[in-house]
Amino acid sequence: MHITTKQFKKFGRLIYDYCGINMHSGKEQLLQARLSKRLRSTGISSVDEYLKVLEKNYQEFNNFIDAISTNHTFFFRESSHLACLRKEHEKIWCAACSSGEEPFSISIYCLENGFCPSIFATDISTSVLKMGERGVFPIEKAKNVSPPILKKYFKKGYGNWEGSIKVKENIKRMVTFNKYNLVTDPLPSKKFDTIFCRNVLIYFDNNVKTVVVNKLYDALEWNGIFIIGGAESLNNIQHRYKYIKPSIYQKVSNY
Ligand SMILES: C[S@@+](CC[C@H](N)C(=O)[O-])C[C@H]1O[C@@H](n2cnc3c(N)ncnc32)[C@H](O)[C@@H]1O
Repeated sequence: MHITTKQFKKFGRLIYDYCGINMHSGKEQLLQARLSKRLRSTGISSVDEYLKVLEKNYQEFNNFIDAISTNHTFFFRESSHLACLRKEHEKIWCAACSSGEEPFSISIYCLENGFCPSIFATDISTSVLKMGERGVFPIEKAKNVSPPILKKYFKKGYGNWEGSIKVKENIKRMVTFNKYNLVTDPLPSKKFDTIFCRNVLIYFDNNVKTVVVNKLYDALEWNGIFIIGGAESLNNIQHRYKYIKPSIYQKVSNY
């Protein structure tokens, strides 16, 4: 299968308009590889035909977005950010949470430090949200988890489940998973004390980044904390946060 420049642009436009991911030139091979899988699964042989299907089949459009989004994550990724969490942070939003390792790491950290916030975990991809709801992960995702924490918060799989771990109910209970598109969905009705938005801004151009970062500002309580990924930056975009330290920002009223 080969996609032409015209087809690449059409896919790029569809993806950008729906979720803000910037399929800039240089991403042709990546798109082609992920698209091939969808064509094989659907039995569709022509790229133009697949483009037509995307226009009218919502389910396949979802599958397509699942296929093109990068969901890489693991437990206690960039865990130093968690140290800014406090007992007063009762409502946490983990936006673009992928398959759940990030919100469950937050819940473990909070329980270990004597508090129990509610964690609203969201992503655009339905398949990763299902994985989070199930709470079963390959053991490799927990390389950063110490043996005592592993024992305390996870069940180890045996037999058919060898190599898997399952989160225990007490941390599962703290997290609710919901589908949420950072670019197009309206803000949730409640506000949050902390918002994690890590390792997703990197896929957006400055226009989309500006929209998302300012939208999330409006979802924060005063003095709320906004956390981005270590490889991301708010340089070159207009925003109202006060910089605290690398990756950590705050919504302060007198700023
Ligand atoms: C690389 S993962 C980051 C996961 C986690 N935050 C972490 O730092 O390990 C990026 C996630 O962003 C999600 N994503 C991409 N565009 C999105 C959008 N417009 N709205 C919500 N989630 C989006 C993808 O589905 C993917 O799960």
